[in-house]
Amino acid sequence: MSGTESAFSGLPRGKIVDGVLYRDIAEQDWPTVLGLRADMVDEIDGFDIDPKHPGWRQRFVRFYRERLQDDRAAFFIAQAGPDTIGMATVYLLANHRSEIFGQQSAYISNVYVKPALRRKGIALQLTFMTVDWARSRGCIVARLRSSPMGRPLYVKAGFGPTEEMELGL
Ligand SMILES: CC(C)(COP(=O)(O)OP(=O)(O)OC[C@H]1O[C@@H](n2cnc3c(N)ncnc32)[C@H](O)[C@@H]1OP(=O)(O)O)[C@@H](O)C(=O)NCCC(=O)NCCS
Repeated sequence: MSGTESAFSGLPRGKIVDGVLYRDIAEQDWPTVLGLRADMVDEIDGFDIDPKHPGWRQRFVRFYRERLQDDRAAFFIAQAGPDTIGMATVYLLANHRSEIFGQQSAYISNVYVKPALRRKGIALQLTFMTVDWARSRGCIVARLRSSPMGRPLYVKAGFGPTEEMELGL
């Protein structure tokens, strides 16, 4: 399988912007994206995810692989040369709005770019890809939970606060 070939049928093929290849995840990418996810948790939350959540790597792959196979998710990779430098994911949410009223929504997560390659528009590109995917699947809204670092990115991408509320339990 070539670097730009998708492991999952029906997903968009790669595109190159400013020398960075944006493409769907392929089977051989899982170890790399798990490493990026661990780096992301370390940076945002300041802990080592492996001892805190034993087995999370297998559950992460299962969660996204199942949804990718059913076209209920997309997993985008940014690649510079041979290096995977960023990622972003999006999946369809199931709730009363989607199940009863047919109002589909999407959840965006795992938006991460390696520190040395930040402020080049890579995360913005990845975020737009997730939004485009959600729109193409009939979603009327895309949701996410931002880290403090992600907030200016998402504001620039058009996200904003809503009437949604929550209670920590
Ligand atoms: C947040 C993150 C994904 C941004 O990646 P990035 O590739 O540097 O972002 P971009 O270059 O696409 O930024 C697009 C715009 O977002 C805003 N922005 C991004 N990072 C910013 C920062 N650290 N401070 C202020 N504004 C920022 C800017 O408006 C920027 O446009 P500009 O550079 O022309 O001013 C990256 O810093 C990261 O991986 N952080 C750790 C993980 C994380 O917090 N992810 C978000 C999870 S919810």
